[in-house]
Amino acid sequence: MMTSSEIRQQFLDFFKSKQHQIVPSAPVVVKNDPTLLFTNAGMNQFKDYFLGNKQPEFKRIADTQKCLRVSGKHNDLEEVGVDTYHHTLFEMLGNWSFGDYFKEEAIAWSWELLTEVYKLDKSRLYVSVFQGDEKEGLPPSSVALREWKKLVADEHIVFGNKKDNFWEMGETGPCGPCSEIHVDMRSNEERALIPGRDLVNKDHPQVIEIWNNVFMQFNRLKDGSLQPLPAQHVDTGMGFERLVRVIQGKQSNYDTDIFTGTIAATENITGKKYDSSPLRDGGKEAVAFRVIADHIRAIAFTIADGQLPSNTGAGYVIRRILRRAVRYYYSYLNYKQPLLHQLLPTLAKQFEHVFPELNAQLDFVSRVVKEEEEAFLRTLEKGLKLIDESISALSAVSAR
Ligand code: GLY
Repeated sequence: MMTSSEIRQQFLDFFKSKQHQIVPSAPVVVKNDPTLLFTNAGMNQFKDYFLGNKQPEFKRIADTQKCLRVSGKHNDLEEVGVDTYHHTLFEMLGNWSFGDYFKEEAIAWSWELLTEVYKLDKSRLYVSVFQGDEKEGLPPSSVALREWKKLVADEHIVFGNKKDNFWEMGETGPCGPCSEIHVDMRSNEERALIPGRDLVNKDHPQVIEIWNNVFMQFNRLKDGSLQPLPAQHVDTGMGFERLVRVIQGKQSNYDTDIFTGTIAATENITGKKYDSSPLRDGGKEAVAFRVIADHIRAIAFTIADGQLPSNTGAGYVIRRILRRAVRYYYSYLNYKQPLLHQLLPTLAKQFEHVFPELNAQLDFVSRVVKEEEEAFLRTLEKGLKLIDESISALSAVSAR
């Protein structure tokens, strides 16, 4: 089975062979854009290239970008851990063209990589095309449709509205029509009963989007209008954790080697076993394992990128994520000591060569996480003691 490291490397090598410059991930904490707290897409660091405010050194770039979608327009927090395919921090594999190649190449290369390099089963892939939007004055994406028709059977092409097939960075900023690629991971029996195309963009846990090809053509202005950009660009984003799950043939992102290391470490620390079978039906212990495996990544990488937990702004978001993880291990794994900081060496080792900033600051990050955990555990204990005392007082009154 291909490891997640090999899968990541193949993506970068593929785009290198198509003359892309490979660049490092930008920090997940955004300091120079008032419209964002955290990097929420691979394209954030290139925003000024799309808007024409700056000229890029390279016209083609590819990378893996740490992204966090827990605030603002793109916010998945409530789903994280409850389902098996949303994350707080995730890696987004991306390739970009700044006024260079456009729809034809982007579509052909995405198909080539998925079906010839990763060898995904074509019968399980569906692509979506923007159907247009009259109110916005946007026509259907006829070029994207033409290009997909060269590669994919008609039954595997679906049309999507502005919500699913017009990607926007935020309330304002670069945007454009997009074409998504979805994978149907259901069993053959299930696929025979309901065609995958009927489940695209329907929140089915086994029919999931993996890659979005955005064709950047507009800037959304404050007054809501769309201003054409000075040039046309490509901005793609592929969810790395989902891709690995598909290639490794797992039913859940948490069963891939991206997460199994931290889950095993949590099992060792708590003495509990992760059982992934109960999904949405109240399997709180399993949810706790997934919440911890997910949240530790968001907490560790944002602190390593310079954002300390605090009571305001980005720091408050990190504090909330950390406290959500503590509540889960305290309540559902019955673990009453600081746990998260114990997972950091495993995580730092795993990402040593991709995001070396964590390993380089391991002691510092561990200290910050442990102190936060201790403080919140004290608050939890105090709160529970107060509740116990109130219940005893009430019982005493009613017994009189
Ligand atoms: N910028 C493309 C995406 O995030 O889907």
